[in-house]
Amino acid sequence: MTTRSVLIYVDRKDRAFAEFFRVLRPRGRISVGEPINRFSFPEPRGRFLGYDVMRVVEIADKLEAFFDREERPKISAMMNFDERDLITIAERTGFGNIHLDLLADIKSPRAEDWSRFIKSAGNPLSPTLEEAMKASLTTAERDRFAAHLRPLVESGSGAQRRAFAYLSAEKPAS
Ligand SMILES: C[S@@+](CC[C@H](N)C(=O)[O-])C[C@H]1O[C@@H](n2cnc3c(N)ncnc32)[C@H](O)[C@@H]1O
Repeated sequence: MTTRSVLIYVDRKDRAFAEFFRVLRPRGRISVGEPINRFSFPEPRGRFLGYDVMRVVEIADKLEAFFDREERPKISAMMNFDERDLITIAERTGFGNIHLDLLADIKSPRAEDWSRFIKSAGNPLSPTLEEAMKASLTTAERDRFAAHLRPLVESGSGAQRRAFAYLSAEKPAS
């Protein structure tokens, strides 16, 4: 049984594993591949989507407050686990022969077109940066924030953190 980027949308991962266990035959295996968002978020103050925004940190704070209020409650399932939780849940469910590989990268992002960047969102439940800026910043703040961030985005001058966990496990023979 295989999932890729599915459990991340499921609030109760323990119940999903219990169902995998229930429907598998003895010696049946699961292979689960899921992004680990906790590797990337929450970011330290002064860092926004992997870019250094310390020079405009008060504006970044307002944006963060907006995301905290509007986005975080909707995406709790995407943030409520890491790779250790996957191992713990698999073991508690009764699986054996558990193996997990974590791929983790911190690297320079691709140089990106600004208008594309502000119109994109991490997932369909999240506002775009453009929407967040309109909802939470004054025009002057938007201009100042964009003047700082845009050259960083367009030159790829940041540090993007990404992690993906691959877990396999087996239902015991008896
Ligand atoms: C990001 S897509 C990944 C699709 C595919 N596994 C891949 O890697 O390309 C997320 C998938 O999770 C499925 N999904 C989300 N919540 C689910 C749930 N509670 N039960 C079953 N599938 C679910 C969605 O239907 C969607 O197909």
